[in-house]
Amino acid sequence: MSDVDRLVAAARAARAFARAPYSGFAVGAALMTREGRIVRGCNIENASYGLTMCAERVALFKALSDGDQDFAMIAVVADTVAPTPPCGPCRQLLWEFGGDLSVVLANLTEVTGRHQLRDLLPWPFDGRLLPGAKSPP
Ligand code: THU
Repeated sequence: MSDVDRLVAAARAARAFARAPYSGFAVGAALMTREGRIVRGCNIENASYGLTMCAERVALFKALSDGDQDFAMIAVVADTVAPTPPCGPCRQLLWEFGGDLSVVLANLTEVTGRHQLRDLLPWPFDGRLLPGAKSPP
């Protein structure tokens, strides 16, 4: 099984844990480190609505808090014919912590899109633009 297939399968499995009673829109994500470790995430909604956390950021924060630093690819799965691309805040955080990730979009049966994060977030704001800059992604 290819890395893409493994990652999409993990994102589909993660989607089963989505807590999305308000939107009814369950999303699964799976982030792969450069070493091949897979970290899963699902979207988590709550009664305030505004504190909702997307599946991509859940996966990213889980990975970061486990000490993972170098990422290669993320898969995002929803039960839609059209691809479900990461929202703006997720793009920003994935860029800052993951750099130019490969982004694989899929539904329950097929891959619906493949992109590089630099194409989804052109002209990003990141640490390079701050005085005393941090290293670029
Ligand atoms: N959502 C994600 O988890 N990831 C995306 O890429 C798009 C949107 C979630 C947030 C919310 O719980 C639901 O989908 C509807 O927007």
